Amino acid sequence: MPADQRSLLDTRALTTENITKLFRMADKFRERSEAHGFFYDAARGPVKQGSKVVALLFFEASTRTRLSFQAAAYRLGLPVLTMEFASSSLSKGESLSDTIQNVLAMGPDALVLRYGSSAELDQLIPRLDIPVINAGFGTLAHPTQALLDAYTIYRERGQVVGERVLIVGDILHSRVARSNFDVLQKLGAEIGVCGPARFLPPGSEISGIRVFDSVDDGLRWATVCMGLRIQFERHQQEASDDDHVARQVAEYHRSYGITRARLQSLIPEGILMHPGPINHGVEFSSDALEDPRCRVLQQVTNGVLIRAALLAKTVGMSELV
Ligand code: NCD
Repeated sequence: MPADQRSLLDTRALTTENITKLFRMADKFRERSEAHGFFYDAARGPVKQGSKVVALLFFEASTRTRLSFQAAAYRLGLPVLTMEFASSSLSKGESLSDTIQNVLAMGPDALVLRYGSSAELDQLIPRLDIPVINAGFGTLAHPTQALLDAYTIYRERGQVVGERVLIVGDILHSRVARSNFDVLQKLGAEIGVCGPARFLPPGSEISGIRVFDSVDDGLRWATVCMGLRIQFERHQQEASDDDHVARQVAEYHRSYGITRARLQSLIPEGILMHPGPINHGVEFSSDALEDPRCRVLQQVTNGVLIRAALLAKTVGMSELV
């Protein structure tokens, strides 16, 4: 199969059937992992991978996504090459494209890539002769996060179709929200958004999506609430002092922060999610995380299963595991 058909650059290339297949494989890995600690079939034993190697190149900060891909690869028996941004030759002035071409010359079988905004990479990536998995491209897309979010909803709520998912926060700058719009709508969920006007995308991007001015109204409507971090690093640099930022953050928390008190408006069987990293006292109060409906760490656990399913498919071992 050509490399570009095995790549996952955007969820828009996935059909509902592709997504449910990944969920079924993640379920299989979960059952095996609970039974004997590995993702492979106990009767068949680990798959002999030969020379298959996955390279993880993260040009932007990451904890969950990078380690989750790494854990997924190890559990499948796939060795990984990992580049640490701070200690790479990028700090000696090497360009992103040169870095990628050099890693490709080492012959990995798939590339997992995260970067901020780069016209150079936007052009290069679709031309590469190797499958690429998007681990977060700027504000554009974060496919594996949206897949693990939808998988978490399916596991915790029993289905995605008909769920009412309220996404609260800095939606305009969020690649997580953008990919979730696509995956959740494909799977038949309804979506609502809530946040200050400056954090909402233009109408064309949120057609068919409900906009709530009040987070309390949104929570009364929702079965799932997903908080998002304010993406300060992606905002246009405004001339503002620390006091001004602190005032804005406090004002945001007062109007849109998810607190234990506010969560009384969410149905008892509802769930609370967040892709991380969480800024305590901003998008969530610390006590909100103690709410029994909070599924933030289940999202992280599910991320390993979903990424393993995707890696297995990408390097052509889905039939073997
Ligand atoms: C998100 C990201 O990097 O896009 N985190 C993640 O991958 N789990 C969200 C964020 O940075 O706020």
